[in-house]
Formats: sequence, C-alpha cells, structure tokens
Amino acid sequence: MKTYRIALIPGDGIGKEVIPAGVRVLEKAAEANGKFEFRFEPFEWGCEYYQRKGRMMPADGLERLRPFDAIYLGAIGHPTVPDHISLRDLLLNIRFNFDLYINIRPFEILPGLTTPLRDKGPAEVNMLFIRENSEGEYSGIGGRLRKGTPDEVAIQTSVFTRKGVERVIRFAFEQARKRPRKRLASATKSNAMQYTMVLWDEVLREVAKDYPDVSVANYHVDALAARMITHPESLDVVVGSNLFADILTDIGGALQGSLGLAASANVNPTARLGPPMFEPVHGSAPDIEGRGIANPIAAIWSGAMMLDYLGESAGAVRIMNALRTVTGEARVRTPDLGGKNTTEEFALAVAAAIAG
Ligand code: NAD
Ligand code: IPM
Ligand code: MN
Repeated sequence: MKTYRIALIPGDGIGKEVIPAGVRVLEKAAEANGKFEFRFEPFEWGCEYYQRKGRMMPADGLERLRPFDAIYLGAIGHPTVPDHISLRDLLLNIRFNFDLYINIRPFEILPGLTTPLRDKGPAEVNMLFIRENSEGEYSGIGGRLRKGTPDEVAIQTSVFTRKGVERVIRFAFEQARKRPRKRLASATKSNAMQYTMVLWDEVLREVAKDYPDVSVANYHVDALAARMITHPESLDVVVGSNLFADILTDIGGALQGSLGLAASANVNPTARLGPPMFEPVHGSAPDIEGRGIANPIAAIWSGAMMLDYLGESAGAVRIMNALRTVTGEARVRTPDLGGKNTTEEFALAVAAAIAG
C-alpha cells in the first residue's frame, strides 16, 4: 500500500470548511481504490496564528513542509490582518520559495449547472489556464518613499525574465499539444507595456516554432477577458502572466457558475524545491465564513488534481466522475449554485457517489 504524506493548511475563513470536505472525498477515493492511503498532517497556520505569534507561519515553516508529497491548502486572509502581509508571508512565500512556477487552473462546466452563458455547456466551455506563478507583477520589488506625506511615491516593479517567460510558455504549449483541439491563447498587453509584454510576445513566437502542431493566438488581455464571455468555445489552453491570469481565472470561475468551483495546482514540473501545492482559486470568503455553506467543489477538484499529480489518475477520475454525477443529479447544491445544502452535505454526496 502506497502512503502519501499531505500537509494540510486549511488557513482562514471558508478554507477551514472546504478542506475537511475535500479530505473526506480524498479518503473515500483512497478507500475505493484500495492501493494507496493518505497520511494528513494539519498545520494551523494563518491569521489566527498571526494574532498569537505575530507571523503567519513559524520561521522554519518551509522546512517543515519540504518533506511532504503535497500541500493541500484552503484559503488565506482575514480582515484582522492586512492582506499584503498574510498572503505574502504564507501563500506567496510557499509558491515563490518552492519555485512552483506553474499554476494550472482548469475551467469546465460541470453537468447540470446553469452558468451565465445559458446556452453553453460542458462541450463549449473547457479551458485550461496556465498562470505564471513565480515572478512578473508579483515579484514584490519596490518601495515607498515619503510615506504618509502628500509627496509620497510608491513603486511596484514587474520582473519578467526570459527564462521565467519561456518556461511557462513552453509548459503551456506542452499542455495544448496533449489536448484534442491543440490551441494556445496568450494574454498580452504589448500595446501599452513596451518592455515586459513585448518580451513576452517575442518569447511566445520563438517557442511556437517548436510546436508547429499547436495553433497560437496572442490576445490583449482586455480583449481576452471579453472573449472568455463572448466566444468561450474558441479558447482551449490559455497562458498568462501572474496578474493577468489571476484576474482572468476569477472570470473563469464566474463562467463555471461560481467562484466556488475553480480549482488549481501550483507545481514545478522540472525541479523539486518543495512539494507542489493544491488549492481552490477562491479566497477565504469572510462574507459567508462560519455558516457551513461554502461550496467545496473547488477544494474537491483541487484534491483530484493532487491525486492526478501524485500518479493516481484512476483515483482522480473517480473523484471527478462522482463530482459530475452529483452536479448532474442536481439534488444536492450549496447556496451559491441556488441550492440549500451545506458544505458537508455536498461532500457526503460526492463521497457516496464514489462508493457507488
Ligand atoms: P473570495 O474569493 O474570498 O470571495 C469572493 C466572493 O465569492 C464572495 O462573495 C464569496 O462569498 C464568494 N465565494 C468564494 N468562494 C466561495 C465558495 N467556495 N462558495 C461559495 N461562495 C464563495 O475573494 P475576496 O472577497 O476578494 O477575498 C477574501 C479574502 O481572501 C481576502 O483576504 C483575500 O486576500 C483572500 N484571498 C485568498 C486567496 C487564497 O488564499 N488563495 C485567494 C483569493 C483571495
Ligand atoms: C489566487 C489569489 C492570490 C493570487 C492572492 C490571494 C495573493 O487571488 O490564488 O488567485 O493573486 O495569486
Ligand atoms: Mn485570484
């Protein structure tokens, strides 16, 4: 029996509600499969930890995470701690220091769900976003001068390296090549950003030469945002910088029917500086926390991506099939999808569908 050691960081707000739902489903998938098991170790890091210790995770936090096979994270952020501290010290700290430079975010319409695009269904909306996850607009380089005075200056510098751009674009081409439609769309803004985004476009054209079987389109990010809504069926794999793809992928969640559906994987496909991390795209949703009504689909789907990444693709398929069965039946649904069920009831329904 194979054992996977998973570091659990439920984090804040609804992170603490959706991760137990995901764990329940993962345990059930392992039980049904019979060939592997999980050893979960919870880490109570986040904004409550910050209130007690003055930091989001211990100084040796990264070292403690390093030996795990994967990290399964809920969401970080609470009104009691400024977001630029909580997210940078925990979430971005893990992504950057483990060089998890690829953020994979799939957008598909699950059976039975009505989305804002009423006449579009699973066949029309099936996108895979590859988000640059290690540099760009999130590099954290900059400073503030003459703080608090009328002459204050704030500078936040984007850093785009040829290596960083190339590796994410190449990964996106590889993903496109594996999919039936073999299409890649890139998010640029080279009409206004003449250094970083022109480099991005140049690298795109160079790497494209190695993938003559993939058709490429380069869209300005504003037009791409609109295209996601007007012509979603024209999009297959989409590659974008850290900030552009962050914004586009919340649109993706909305197109799926709720932000509670969008899943993600943070990975480094070429080197291991630390474990990969799997997490919903959504945040800690303080407006609904503590009510037990958060949609756990994103967490469950991220758990399936974790299984797939660990090499347990049969287990991942089992979870996704169960998820599709439950949404397709349209009996159990959380309020964001117009239902009345709780997070736990939904997770139980998926677990029951796994058990058959
Ligand atoms: P959010 O994603 O938390 O919430 C946006 C809206 O979507 C809210 O109305 C919320 O109720 C709804 N929503 C989100 N997830 C849902 C779910 N699973 N089920 C039902 N409804 C859901 O974004 P926000 O309000 O901008 O941010 C709240 C906090 O989360 C902030 O501190 C922010 O920085 C943080 N954040 C963290 C992450 C992360 O840890 N990965 C991601 C995004 C935001
Ligand atoms: C996401 C989140 C994070 C990001 C924030 C909370 C730092 O929005 O994972 O999409 O922008 O990367
Ligand atoms: Mn985001």
